[in-house]
Amino acid sequence: MLRLVDVKKRFGQIRAVDGLTLDIARGEVFGLLGPNGAGKTTVLSMVMGLLAPDSGSIEIEGHGPTHEPRVRRIIGVAPQTLALYDDLSAAENLAFFASLYGIGKTEAGKRAAELLSLVGLDDRAKDRVKGFSGGMKRRLNLAAALVGDPEILLLDEPTAGVDPQSRQNIVDAVLALRQRGRTIVYTTHFMEEAQRVCDRVGIMDNGRLLALGTLDELIRDHGGLTCVVVETPAGARTIRTSDPVAEVSVAIGAGDVLNIRVERPNLESVFFALTGRSLRD
Ligand SMILES: Nc1ncnc2c1ncn2[C@@H]1O[C@H](COP(=O)(O)OP(=O)(O)OP(=O)(O)O)[C@@H](O)[C@H]1O
Ligand SMILES: [Mg+2]
Repeated sequence: MLRLVDVKKRFGQIRAVDGLTLDIARGEVFGLLGPNGAGKTTVLSMVMGLLAPDSGSIEIEGHGPTHEPRVRRIIGVAPQTLALYDDLSAAENLAFFASLYGIGKTEAGKRAAELLSLVGLDDRAKDRVKGFSGGMKRRLNLAAALVGDPEILLLDEPTAGVDPQSRQNIVDAVLALRQRGRTIVYTTHFMEEAQRVCDRVGIMDNGRLLALGTLDELIRDHGGLTCVVVETPAGARTIRTSDPVAEVSVAIGAGDVLNIRVERPNLESVFFALTGRSLRD
């Protein structure tokens, strides 16, 4: 559905994207993760056709370049920097984006109502975006990406800066789209969220892909050992092991156990193992 081959993009001395090769299948939810400045937004901007790669190729359903109108029609975008008109109402914003897709007024109205309900804004349809909270704007931003009923969705941090309720609403909407077979490229800094929505994850840093695979593959290859934390009256001790079951039974056999916690590696362990712990900007 989406293929990038050896894509490069520099900004002056900065290699924002440095030889990225990636194949995303139809119906896949692909998580593109990486620290600040890793190059995620630059990748999405090139896929959208907003930025031209310096070299390499990008194909969507076998078509390229990305800015061809027939390709643009099948892409929906929720950009990291909100793209909404503050002086228009929620419904008017969606009507405007619908007009860009050549959707007629009646159909646009119907679709706007459906989408506003999907993102929990039906009761705010007529209110100006100016007065919306950050979470409401994020949700409307997602609705705007869906107006053209796109085959491919590019969601750049769709849950940035929102409360747990808004995040849940957005994640539910993405899961519903996955059910409907949409192809989605998703960036987020929330690992637990990526674990829930993504079929496959790519971790990038400094413009390069460091690892790529399903959650299980990444955890197996980069997650490290399981921690068994054993609490006794003498204190807590942590055992790193590849065989937690054995460690748990040894601990229980030794007696005097107040509590045992088994912490398996997760996507966050993988992320830190690959990208380190130092700050980026
Ligand atoms: N228009 C631009 N001009 C100059 N440098 C840029 C431009 N856009 C991006 N960069 C640089 O390219 C690198 C990658 O930026 P990008 O925005 O793609 O990162 P990101 O992974 O999306 O980060 P974040 O998680 O903070 O959104 C950064 O070093 C950034 O400063
Ligand atoms: Mg970004």
